[in-house]
Amino acid sequence: MSKEDAFRNLIAHCKEYGFIFQSSEIYDGLSAVYDYGQNGVELKNNIRKYWWDSMILLNENVVGLDSAIFMHPKTWKASGHLDAFNDPLIDNKDSKKRYRADDLIEEHMEKLENKIDREVEKAKKRFGASFDEKMFRDTNPRVIANREKIDSLNGRFVKAMNNNDLAELKQIILDYEITCPVSGTRNWTDVRQFNLMFATEMGSTADGAMKIYLRPETAQGIFVNYINVQKTGRMKLPFGIAQIGKAFRNEIVARQFIFRMREFEQMEMQYFIKPGTENEWFDHWKNVRMKWHKALGLGDDNYRFHDHEKLAHYASAATDIEFNFPFGFREVEGIHSRTDFDLGQHQKFSGKKLQYFDPETNESFVPYVVETSLGLDRIFLQIISAAYHEEEIQKEDGSTDSRVVFNLPPVLAPVKLAVLPLVKKDGLPEISRRIMDDLKYDFNCQYEEKDSIGRRYRRQDAIGTPYCITIDHQTKEDNTVTIRYRDTMEQERVNVRQLRNIISEKVDMSSFLRKLDHD
Ligand code: GAP
Repeated sequence: MSKEDAFRNLIAHCKEYGFIFQSSEIYDGLSAVYDYGQNGVELKNNIRKYWWDSMILLNENVVGLDSAIFMHPKTWKASGHLDAFNDPLIDNKDSKKRYRADDLIEEHMEKLENKIDREVEKAKKRFGASFDEKMFRDTNPRVIANREKIDSLNGRFVKAMNNNDLAELKQIILDYEITCPVSGTRNWTDVRQFNLMFATEMGSTADGAMKIYLRPETAQGIFVNYINVQKTGRMKLPFGIAQIGKAFRNEIVARQFIFRMREFEQMEMQYFIKPGTENEWFDHWKNVRMKWHKALGLGDDNYRFHDHEKLAHYASAATDIEFNFPFGFREVEGIHSRTDFDLGQHQKFSGKKLQYFDPETNESFVPYVVETSLGLDRIFLQIISAAYHEEEIQKEDGSTDSRVVFNLPPVLAPVKLAVLPLVKKDGLPEISRRIMDDLKYDFNCQYEEKDSIGRRYRRQDAIGTPYCITIDHQTKEDNTVTIRYRDTMEQERVNVRQLRNIISEKVDMSSFLRKLDHD
């Protein structure tokens, strides 16, 4: 099955099993806005907890915050978002479709990279074991020609983006004969800047109303509270403030399901440091965050860093952690060295001192900041796309069957165990209820007695439940049950008293964090 088909199936699966619904679906939906259903919200909460606990519990000097979505409009003037939080947009006059000019150029570069990769794959097959990939890449004329094209295109692109040169962006699109994916033509409008912030009004009378914005990042809520937290928490540098919350961006092109949304959630941490230590802390948080991702067990090869060449208006260094989504490597988290830009700007615009007094040197200064910024919806998509599998199963009688299984990291699974009486009689439901009543305080359990046991297993596989417990007639005699493991489908007979330990070993957040901290 192609990656596109698998991705389409994943989206349908998310709806069928209560993970993600289109917002306002009964009114035909709202573009790039989604709701999380009964299983989605559990998975999302578990991801949230993994992030929050790893920040707050594992770092004595990181504290939390929950700031408001609405902020004083001057915030966005100071932060630069009013003037610079723009995307360059371009329309195709034939298809009437709107694109981000930078996306069109980046996609073109990706196509050229793919051409090179295909050339290498072909040669690999032709030459077999004697193939020297490096030599081939260095000497093959077609590879060299495409590499040169990419390098020169990238050079022009980075320069144009850094200089906000919209005419040059359009010229690049024309020079490289980039066509509209829908109409196939090169009939483009000029490139224009488009501010991504949503605006609304606060106040009850028309003339007294104030134009305010839905925050496009949670970070500014942290910056404007820097002095509150530092003073009331008696925090010493370096220290961090972590926050999880909604952010809003009027994305020009919103696609790939929950990858790029107009309303989404961020998990951000601003780490306040002494000027001059930013490189050290930037490297530190890069490593810590990559380790956090890899601990999820989604495959180390699926991650890479991508250093920014075009820096955001606030950054002195920036890298993305990218994950191999079904549509290629894409950003899931940004790590940015933001210097004293934000605090400096808020100090200037508010007239309030946002400085730190260092008792060791008797000096006051505006702290520097390194931030880690992860999209909660994006990591949700990363996890479900890595976990979704359609499998052929060989049955004992030689026939085959199929199942859809979500191999979610057990610690994040929405339901940790299903409690299933083999039949709806002979006292088995009552015993099952007693087991569930005992375990429900520790784990999210689900009780199911309808349909054959096989169908119930399939339903639990489809939502990623790592353990199914089956209560049968033998349970009445010796207090044992069968435990079935989602990934291997193996079954084992265990005593009811062992259940809590077996299950906690894989699903307990504190054990998971302990491993993360000590590895
Ligand atoms: N405070 C820095 C900041 O907001 P960003 O790179 O613009 O940096 C950080 O965003 C993260 O937020 C991204 O890596 C991504 O995971 C998530 N994100 C950004 N825009 C998004 C969108 N439209 N939909 C879903 N997630 C988004």
